[in-house]
Amino acid sequence: MTTLLDRRFHFVTGKGGVGKTTITSALALSLAARDKRVLICGCNAKERFSALFEAPPLGHDVTLVAENVWATNIDPGRAMEEYGQMILKSRTVSRAVFDNRYVRSFFRATPGLYEWAMLGKAWFHAVEPSPDGTPPFDAVIVDAPATGHGLDMLRVPKVIVDVVPPGILRRDAERAWEMFRDERQTGVVIVTLPEDMPVNETLELSEAMTGELGLHVSNVVVNGMIPPLFSAPERASLLAPRALDERTRGGVAVAAGARRALRETIQAEALAKLGKHLSSPKVYVPLYFGGVNGLAEVREIARRLS
Ligand SMILES: Nc1ncnc2c1ncn2[C@@H]1O[C@H](COP(=O)(O)OP(=O)(O)O)[C@@H](O)[C@H]1O
Ligand SMILES: [Mg+2]
Repeated sequence: MTTLLDRRFHFVTGKGGVGKTTITSALALSLAARDKRVLICGCNAKERFSALFEAPPLGHDVTLVAENVWATNIDPGRAMEEYGQMILKSRTVSRAVFDNRYVRSFFRATPGLYEWAMLGKAWFHAVEPSPDGTPPFDAVIVDAPATGHGLDMLRVPKVIVDVVPPGILRRDAERAWEMFRDERQTGVVIVTLPEDMPVNETLELSEAMTGELGLHVSNVVVNGMIPPLFSAPERASLLAPRALDERTRGGVAVAAGARRALRETIQAEALAKLGKHLSSPKVYVPLYFGGVNGLAEVREIARRLS
């Protein structure tokens, strides 16, 4: 956790629907509780931060959502325009360039530029003061797109570094890429569920992040853990073929027990697989039966992360 606290840049990814946005929010609160000024960046997704922080709907503008926590749901078009303004130093010139139909279609047709606009904006907030002079955030957390798209997003700066001719775009991508590859500064957090498919996807994702991209997976968050009610022998006997009879005869309690035992077995196997193949530190977050709907649950998860 000391290192999680010290990093300036966190990239939260994982299979769709596993709890990335929830964990991003909780991580933000846990860092904010240690007096860090934290920025959460959503990537042009249907935003859920405002519900989780019980704040007004969130748009592209950086907005305070809790003590020491700011958030933005990045609009890639506007991020691109801001970038243009920074480079061209004038809003009017930038508008002239970026509102131009041909320029817009160029960006749309160039793979990765919109991803870079979002990632670049997030990175920028971690290293540069805002135009109004506010110092950079102590920590920036990107609530990244799910697995494949999250990987694609992180591939973009590497591609720019590899193929774009020297210039401002390449210079910034080089600086960002250097920071992303520095494990003292940047960590990838993979969120998963204690189930077979999400765990398999996590193993592949982790391999691609570390092997292909040379990034550091700082933590794996196993979200939605159920507390085991049965021991392994009890699970085995509830799931044994001879118990089937009793279940089909309408023993409601036995059937419920068997369902629970099955789920616990799946969870135990998933955890064993994760433990065997992934050495990244793991954090376990319980399943909230009523869902994660607001600050109360997010605060509780934040306490677990710290
Ligand atoms: N630990 C948990 N217990 C119960 N429900 C959860 C938990 N974590 C997330 N959820 C629920 O799962 C759904 C997806 O969570 P979300 O954080 O939006 O996932 P993602 O960002 O990966 O799509 C939401 O309805 C959320 O309330
Ligand atoms: Mg989400």
